[in-house]
Amino acid sequence: MKEGIKQYLAGKIPSEDLQLIYRSYDLIGDLAVVKIPDQALKYRDLIAEAIMRVHKNVKAVWHQTSPVRGDFRLRKLEWIAGEKRSETVYKEYGCTFKVDIEKCYFSPRLSYERMRIAKLVQPGEKIVNMFAGVGCYSILIAKHSKAEKIYSIDINPHAVHYMKENIRINKVEDRVIVILGDAKEVIERELQRIADRVLMPLPEKAYKFLGTAVLALKPSGGWIHYYAFEHAAKGENPIEKVKEKVSKKLEILDVSYNMPFGRIVRETGPNWYQVVLDIQVKI
Ligand SMILES: C[S@@+](CC[C@H](N)C(=O)[O-])C[C@H]1O[C@@H](n2cnc3c(N)ncnc32)[C@H](O)[C@@H]1O
Repeated sequence: MKEGIKQYLAGKIPSEDLQLIYRSYDLIGDLAVVKIPDQALKYRDLIAEAIMRVHKNVKAVWHQTSPVRGDFRLRKLEWIAGEKRSETVYKEYGCTFKVDIEKCYFSPRLSYERMRIAKLVQPGEKIVNMFAGVGCYSILIAKHSKAEKIYSIDINPHAVHYMKENIRINKVEDRVIVILGDAKEVIERELQRIADRVLMPLPEKAYKFLGTAVLALKPSGGWIHYYAFEHAAKGENPIEKVKEKVSKKLEILDVSYNMPFGRIVRETGPNWYQVVLDIQVKI
């Protein structure tokens, strides 16, 4: 937490309890989402007040009471303070995203990674974003590259609603194409062998859907950006662990590949990491 928040709380909460609540929070547009451990729940209102004092632009504070879960990747939120509103507008690298944080997945922590991918895109590319959410990757790519088309699939109707609105706000209607549905069904039905690049920003399903991503690639092959969660004990390398699993699967799928790049996107818990691999597939 920011220094100002600690200072604001210091006189109001006993110092042994203060240790409990030095946890991080996310700012999404003018909303704050905070995780509070059970032992510190009695200080909920004070924590919210502190966040709003330090971040003058924050209009509401929400308490995240569950991990991100389910097919739509949503977290349970309870309102604590400010306006009772879960819709906000978030800005990133010159793009504007409207999002309802109760109805759609959204994370400001992937901002660097989204831009990293956008910078890799070459003029004229066709891209399939299998798990597009409210459109952050797709719109950032459209704005910062000369990609021809970015087919953007999501199974959550609310995410698709906001993705359509965000495409309009960012004026990329001609290049970002929205498709509501299951990525596997959509690709098998209408996006086989068309893509230069496939994005798989859903670590929970990437392994299962890898064959579908390969199916979306052009007959000449292309790139897959593969996201995974991996556990790594001391001395283990999470990137190498993911590479090993993915290699086995690609061998079963009988494709040639290179994995020239991998990185840890973020830590998601003690010894848990979100990893991305850039996979070059030659079919
Ligand atoms: C972790 S979010 C990523 C959202 C977006 N790429 C971003 O960076 O904000 C994963 C998204 O995949 C969607 N999803 C889950 N299963 C799906 C499936 N089988 N087909 C298409 N979309 C799916 C969820 O609704 C969710 O919006």
